[in-house]
Amino acid sequence: MTRPLVIVGAGGHARSCLDVIEAHGGFQIVGLIGNSEEVGRNVLEHRVIGSDDDLPGLAKFGVSAIVAVGQIRTSKVRHALFAKLRKLGFELPAIISPRAYVSRHSEVGAGSIIMHHVTVNAGVTIGCNCIINTAAIIEHDCNVDDHCHISTGAIVNGGVCIGKGCFVGSGSIIHQERVIGEGSVVGMGVPVRQNILPGEVLRGDNE
Ligand SMILES: CC(C)(COP(=O)(O)OP(=O)(O)OC[C@H]1O[C@@H](n2cnc3c(N)ncnc32)[C@H](O)[C@@H]1OP(=O)(O)O)[C@@H](O)C(=O)NCCC(=O)NCCS
Repeated sequence: MTRPLVIVGAGGHARSCLDVIEAHGGFQIVGLIGNSEEVGRNVLEHRVIGSDDDLPGLAKFGVSAIVAVGQIRTSKVRHALFAKLRKLGFELPAIISPRAYVSRHSEVGAGSIIMHHVTVNAGVTIGCNCIINTAAIIEHDCNVDDHCHISTGAIVNGGVCIGKGCFVGSGSIIHQERVIGEGSVVGMGVPVRQNILPGEVLRGDNE
């Protein structure tokens, strides 16, 4: 049986999420929530049915929800949306692409999405409201805390600990056993050899 699901966000990341959710097959997509200008538009054949103001009404129908807004410099927006949906009583399922490999010895928290061709290996814990984006690799025994975005093709090697609200850019590689402080940003393609302090922004070798 499919579960009704509303997608909160109507931009580029929402389009990627839609593809994963359609491939998953376990959800009936009720529609998207966008800003007031987006309401009434179609996104990949799905209607933007309302804005944030319509969420309390939808919650009453027992619909599930997923935050499908992107995140780079800060997790603030995704974090606030997640908290709002939770407060309204939405069920926030973890959604795993059928084209991802997620070890049975790992955990994925509520509202997180594991996109196509991701590998999540044994002993990994992924928190709530995370994006593990297309083809990222999260190796054995990593801990990715809530509200993180591990971007496309990033490699997080064994035993790495990533604090809340971090962004790890596309194609970045993190040395095993490193600690990435809360709220930090690792730029696209940056090799991370050392621990990163909370709130640090690493743009790369050429900055
Ligand atoms: C780390 C990051 C967030 C920093 O963002 P920022 O400080 O706002 O910087 P911007 O990306 O806007 O870049 C500002 C300028 O610095 C340049 N720049 C950024 N990082 C640089 C680097 N490592 N070396 C040289 N130049 C760099 C940009 O080309 C840009 O130049 P311009 O003003 O001439 O166009 C950003 O560089 C980044 O890596 N973004 C993530 C990309 C990514 O992984 N996307 C995948 C999404 S799924």
